[in-house]
Amino acid sequence: MRTFHIKLKGGAQKSTIVCRKDVLAKQLKGDLSWLNAGGALIFTDSNVYALYQRQIKKLSLPVFVMAAGEEHKTEETLFALLKEMAEVGLRRTSTLIALGGGVVGDIGGLAASLYMRGIACIQVPTTLLAQVDSSVGGKTAIDFCGVKNLIGAFHQPVYVYADPTFFKTLPARELRCGLGEIIKHAALNAELFDKLSAQDDLFDMDFLARIVPDNIQIKADVVEKDPTERGLRRCLNLGHTTGHAIELTQNDLSHGECVLLGLLYESRIAARHLQTDGAYLAALSALIKRVLICDGKSIDIERAAHLALLDKKNTKQDTVTLSVPTKKGEFAFLELDYADYVRDLKEIREELC
Ligand SMILES: NC(=O)c1ccc[n+]([C@@H]2O[C@H](COP(=O)([O-])OP(=O)(O)OC[C@H]3O[C@@H](n4cnc5c(N)ncnc54)[C@H](O)[C@@H]3O)[C@@H](O)[C@H]2O)c1
Ligand SMILES: [Zn+2]
Repeated sequence: MRTFHIKLKGGAQKSTIVCRKDVLAKQLKGDLSWLNAGGALIFTDSNVYALYQRQIKKLSLPVFVMAAGEEHKTEETLFALLKEMAEVGLRRTSTLIALGGGVVGDIGGLAASLYMRGIACIQVPTTLLAQVDSSVGGKTAIDFCGVKNLIGAFHQPVYVYADPTFFKTLPARELRCGLGEIIKHAALNAELFDKLSAQDDLFDMDFLARIVPDNIQIKADVVEKDPTERGLRRCLNLGHTTGHAIELTQNDLSHGECVLLGLLYESRIAARHLQTDGAYLAALSALIKRVLICDGKSIDIERAAHLALLDKKNTKQDTVTLSVPTKKGEFAFLELDYADYVRDLKEIREELC
């Protein structure tokens, strides 16, 4: 078991993250006396509920189940959850338990931030991606008007319980998705990069269980320094500007696969414009290719580039802002004119495919 405490600037909010096995049968069961005293609701999705309903029912807490999938990360689901929270009589002292992947975590966190102007939220992330990334840091959101994460809030969970036993039921594709974010962290942290490079089977469950706390630590360190993404936290956007744009043009690729493709492109862009370590960037690309099973041949690169220009993290007109890997454990922010970015993407696509 490993426990972390994240304290944010100003000291107003604090999150405790606990990495341990058997969260449903042990941790939450142990919390039941205070959860019942204040009132609590479990929020989960249809897949997680189908797999874990026996353990969930044993907690004897009210449960609200959403239909699984990003397409349900909507205002309808958010308001259906808020309605349920009101109907079961949650109070200001109550707790919402978000048990699921990043979709459940993002909607649950947002509902907890809105209900009575903010109640406590416990995140129980059940996907690899949610454990190493989305459950840590307090970002919450729903998709709105066709834009991903357009409406959201910063709301730190009081607890995050990360339990690797949930990975046993995860499809390989979801593991690959989580590995996309893990490789992103490895591009920011030399020690994690060495651990991944030395590991034969990156999908091995025991290995993944061992590196989840490392990833949480990396993200927590960044979030503590910059909780509301004014500067440093944008480094976590590595691979994501190009990755998100690819994601919007390709329905058949998962977020993690797009992030890995984004990282591949952006490390080559870095080499064209900045002082970089060529041998290291080659090793990073080799690591990415061990997880990525698509070659990105079908990407509509011009459309993706145009969508990257609309990214909400860009600060200047006709400029694309990237967070790129440069040397082992090092990154840089790079601002590129749109025309240069499109040219780079097209040329790199030729090199890669
Ligand atoms: N808030 C943040 O900082 C942040 C960061 C990264 C991503 N996100 C968000 O996270 C979401 C993606 O998260 P995700 O990849 O976890 O997606 P997800 O929540 O849709 O989960 C992926 C799939 O796995 C299923 N699932 C969940 N746990 C399972 C388990 N233990 N066994 C079997 N199946 C299981 C789900 O039902 C779903 O079908 C996106 O909406 C993204 O915007 C948020
Ligand atoms: Zn991501």
